Amino acid sequence: MKKIQFGTSNPGKLLETQKLFAPLGFEIEQVHISYPELQSSDLEEVASFGINWIMKEKKIEEAVIIEDAGLFVSALNNYPGVFSKHFFVTIGFDGILRLLKGKEDRSAYFESCVAYCEKGSEPLFFKGRVDGTIAIMPRGHHGFGYDPIFIPKGAEKTFAEMEIEEKNKHSHRAIALRQLAEFLSNK
Ligand code: IMP
Repeated sequence: MKKIQFGTSNPGKLLETQKLFAPLGFEIEQVHISYPELQSSDLEEVASFGINWIMKEKKIEEAVIIEDAGLFVSALNNYPGVFSKHFFVTIGFDGILRLLKGKEDRSAYFESCVAYCEKGSEPLFFKGRVDGTIAIMPRGHHGFGYDPIFIPKGAEKTFAEMEIEEKNKHSHRAIALRQLAEFLSNK
């Protein structure tokens, strides 16, 4: 079984990735590496800086993945976007619900950029996006982060009302990871 290390401290991201890769014969192993996050409005730039830093500074066995994601809310001029982590830690999803009070447009999207690098090779990037809406009230207890307030297009449940397999049918991260999986299967 081929092993890929995943540099994340987020158990939710790890589980989603393991579920998606297990049937393909890949073992995803968590590694706790924190890397400097570039201040940029572009997720790929953030991921690129992070993975290049890891390849230079850390001992990677075979290959490593990192992933950066953000929630972009239309009525907030696509905020919090690349600042989603800071926003979540400071005011959480309640902050989004408060800012959207009385606004008709509740559309939003999640974007993910997965960076993958094999030892001795250049990093590769895979992106995923899921459009949807922000719920009126938080619903559900699965997942993490903004999951209780995000309803993907074509669904009625929030991400937090879905089991991992169902979230993986819609999510930005799963869309990006499936492209990586396809690349690896065709190697
Ligand atoms: P990061 O990719 O870990 O920097 O994530 C930025 C912020 O977006 C964090 O607060 C995450 O909790 C949140 N986030 C990222 N992906 C998801 C997701 O799939 N669902 C809900 N929140 C997410």
